[in-house]
Amino acid sequence: MSRKIKKRKISTLEIRKAIREHGEDILKHPNFLKSAHNIQHGDVSVMKHSLKVAYAAAWLNKKLHIKCEERDLIRGALLHDYFLYDWHDTSREDFNPLHGFYHPGVAYRNASKDFNLSPREADIIKKHMWPMTIKPPRCREAWVVTAADKYISTLESLRLHNRSRMIKLRRRISGQDSVHHGQELNR
Ligand SMILES: [Fe+2]
Ligand SMILES: [Fe+2]
Repeated sequence: MSRKIKKRKISTLEIRKAIREHGEDILKHPNFLKSAHNIQHGDVSVMKHSLKVAYAAAWLNKKLHIKCEERDLIRGALLHDYFLYDWHDTSREDFNPLHGFYHPGVAYRNASKDFNLSPREADIIKKHMWPMTIKPPRCREAWVVTAADKYISTLESLRLHNRSRMIKLRRRISGQDSVHHGQELNR
């Protein structure tokens, strides 16, 4: 007898609602809003990147039944890159080419000034660049955000975050694009 595996569809609206509810004060904070003007990867701002990481972390948590504390997970993800400067700007007085190594510490200091961080949120921010941080995450929430951040950062760096670009790439890989192209040529 075949066993029926019950698949639960993860609702985009449900995740967005959780981000709005748990991150309400962060999403309205002037410093978080300012990060919309700083580029993170490709053409994606730090604010948009942080929202994408929060979404991906919450999705992974639900999909894999990791049982994270959702509030800490989302808030930590929203604040993981709260370094509040343009890391591409080499003319900055405090410019440091080792941004990858030291920005978790800057983000943690900034976030603790603006928000009351829980121990899990602090761990997420401080360890999200693991293994660069050497010390590994100490809670499952930090592991999930670390994984989500790497996934989203890779897509953004390769400029694959855009849905239509992803669809085009999938078509190219599956050969559908060449069929379509061939049809165009035969016209
Ligand atoms: Fe980061
Ligand atoms: Fe990040």
